[in-house]
Amino acid sequence: MAPKSLALAALLAVVAAVGLVPHGAEAVTGAATATNVLISGIVPCSTGSSINVATAPVFPNAGVQLVCGGKVVAGATSDGTGAFLINTGPVVGTDLLTVLLGNQCKVVVITPLAACNVSLAGATGTLTAPLKLLGTSTGTGSGGDPLGLGGIIGLVSGIISGILGGILNLGTQQFSTI
Ligand SMILES: *[C@@H]1O[C@H](CO)[C@@H](O)[C@H](O)[C@H]1NC(C)=O
Repeated sequence: MAPKSLALAALLAVVAAVGLVPHGAEAVTGAATATNVLISGIVPCSTGSSINVATAPVFPNAGVQLVCGGKVVAGATSDGTGAFLINTGPVVGTDLLTVLLGNQCKVVVITPLAACNVSLAGATGTLTAPLKLLGTSTGTGSGGDPLGLGGIIGLVSGIISGILGGILNLGTQQFSTI
């Protein structure tokens, strides 16, 4: 976990620095710098901590929300395979991106577990998952490769490209009932 935190801290420093520079230009080109944030995952129909979605039953038609600092930012519903895709729509500026990359957001399942398995009607807690970075792609078509957490240099340039009108792809880490 420590290396990832360091990577995120490094990213934040870059994101913050980038955020400071183009503020004058932002007023003019605000629409062009809008970024889409996509968050994908699979909701398990299970309780516990760090649930393995590869082996757990899935949770179809589950309402999921992106929650940042206690506020609901966006939402979606899982399909028949438990898969969901939250799309924030165009995000202008770097505030939400900074919060997301700062690990201050989570995905929360708002549909009670009884909806996928009546045996879980008595389950306490809410299915919740932290986020992970899947990659970025640019809106202009240059350098659109998804980037893993491994290559920090490529990652940073990818994040910058993502801020400038691209797509930030996030996924969920394992769900836990919290
Ligand atoms: C429902 O939950 C119970 C208790 O966790 C479990 O034993 C059972 O296998 C689940 N049923 C399905 C269909 O997943």
